[in-house]
Amino acid sequence: MKHLLSIEDLTVKQIGEILALAKNLKAARGKRSHPQPLKGQTWALIFAKYSTRTRVSFEVGIRELGGRAMFLSNNDIQLGRGEPIVDTARVLGRMVHGCVIRTFHQKDVVDFAATSGIPTINALTDDEHPCQILADIFTIEEKLGRIQKKVVCFIGDGACNVPASWMLAAGKLGFELRIAAPRKYQPSANLLKRAGGKVIVTDDRAKAADGADVIYSDTWISMGKEEEEAQRLAELDGYQINDQLLAHAKPKALVMHCLPAYRGKEITNDVFERHAETIFDQAENRLHVQKAILALLAKAWRR
Ligand code: CP
Ligand code: NVA
Repeated sequence: MKHLLSIEDLTVKQIGEILALAKNLKAARGKRSHPQPLKGQTWALIFAKYSTRTRVSFEVGIRELGGRAMFLSNNDIQLGRGEPIVDTARVLGRMVHGCVIRTFHQKDVVDFAATSGIPTINALTDDEHPCQILADIFTIEEKLGRIQKKVVCFIGDGACNVPASWMLAAGKLGFELRIAAPRKYQPSANLLKRAGGKVIVTDDRAKAADGADVIYSDTWISMGKEEEEAQRLAELDGYQINDQLLAHAKPKALVMHCLPAYRGKEITNDVFERHAETIFDQAENRLHVQKAILALLAKAWRR
């Protein structure tokens, strides 16, 4: 594994290695024996979009692994004024040891990885959010055991980055993914084909939640879609995690949310608060899983 750009690029074995190392690093946190594979390294974080969890978990994770993190907002570097991503990559590749990028186009992280000559991590694009879904799988396995054969139901905007990464994981790991979304917000046929596996797309919420082990949502208005807010609130109305939906799932189903959450929109306040422990464990696990990704990339690039 030289980069972490998409779940599609990972083998089942590599996913297993990330999850196993994340478990060890979680247990080793704060101990003297905690490994320092990034010692002497500086990693850049280039963010063109807002972030709380991803930024903090990467900054803290890099430091806990012995490295230094350098946060570069898109607005502060020449990239924001139109310098090409490939030139940014060629410069950073000569100065830092790795880069974590949150941006709009998936092609930009792919081009950065191809040009920079340093390990590159996708910290969210319009198309995918691989670190999130790896941490979510880790959380599910902590709480329910192996994800194989489990049923994960995603409800809401089924055409955004988070369900896309879920789809790419489902085929590889052998769980069933059901996406409940209005027609307009369903994933493309092309992505469905790429994902393979057992992915069911429907506008029937009850059917999607029936007997599910996990009920999952994300905001209806992803970053970059703010202008569509009024339309999205109207069109996605009802594609919400609420008690009515949960009545269809397994009685002990996990309720998960990648956050930030908008109560009263994609999830009710009641359901969110009842399941807050799971949701914030899920947020914390971003740190452990991303530390595993960083450590594995550092190892793969060690000469
Ligand atoms: N879930 C997630 O990626 O959160 P942030 O946008 O706060 O990083
Ligand atoms: N789909 C959301 C995820 C936020 C973590 C977005 O792209 O804004």
